[in-house]
Amino acid sequence: MGTPLTTPLATRWDALLARLQDIARQHPDALLASSMGVEDTLLIHALAQLPQRLGVFMLDTGRLHPETLAMVDVIAQRYGIAVQRLHPEPDAVREYVASHGPNAFYESVELRQRCCDIRKVQPLRRALAGHSAWITGQRREQSITRAELPEAQWDDAFGLRKYNPLASWSTEEVWAVVRALNIPYHPLHDRGYPSIGCEPCTRAIRPGEDIRAGRWWWEQRNNAECGLHVTAHRTTHAPAAGTQPDRPTPAA
Ligand code: ADX
Ligand code: SF4
Repeated sequence: MGTPLTTPLATRWDALLARLQDIARQHPDALLASSMGVEDTLLIHALAQLPQRLGVFMLDTGRLHPETLAMVDVIAQRYGIAVQRLHPEPDAVREYVASHGPNAFYESVELRQRCCDIRKVQPLRRALAGHSAWITGQRREQSITRAELPEAQWDDAFGLRKYNPLASWSTEEVWAVVRALNIPYHPLHDRGYPSIGCEPCTRAIRPGEDIRAGRWWWEQRNNAECGLHVTAHRTTHAPAAGTQPDRPTPAA
């Protein structure tokens, strides 16, 4: 058991539980999408308090950090929740790698988006097929592309309801609740990674950098997205300023 929350965090937490309870009542088939980032483990902890059990899935792109994969066991042990790992279509991956090479995402925005499409978006489409709602850990503070993120929306890209119950939460609130309730979190957060994606496309950030600066950093844009959340923020992807990326800054 962690330290009990004090107001106003307790109020925030109770409102989150009530919101998730409503979603579970309205959509017993709703699924939580978990990258195993801190927002998602907070949501898993919250979902574990509900009488209903909602499904949780992770898009296992085949390029995730080992620490991300290890979180699946952490969640199973702590909550008895089996996170479903969704894999890309092997033929599509094979074809991409054979045609362009395993790390072609560094070469152009188009090849990066194609890789995200094969490894993330298409598996997500399969995961959500037949479901009436999904839940994400997105927050408005995370990016200018998420500044207008609603708590509930119709996801016209995937054809179902989409809930972002942490939309208005600040980074400080998330961490205060995680610490107080002793919620497990991804170890890379303590190594300079506020945002965690695929291993070759995520680096630690430097002090003062934007929290998503470590995602697809070579594209030299501050609005990078991969296609999971196109409804909330339709961005056009400007061509990368340089064609050759710097290699990742090793995590400290
Ligand atoms: S991303 O679109 O840039 O990759 P981000 O890492 O900020 O998204 O995560 C936002 C939310 O998208 C997460 O809270 C989670 O709900 C969902 N998400 C991101 N990556 C994955 C993943 N690999 N598997 C499942 N859900 C994910
Ligand atoms: Fe591919 Fe990188 Fe996108 Fe992962 S984040 S799917 S490795 S381009």
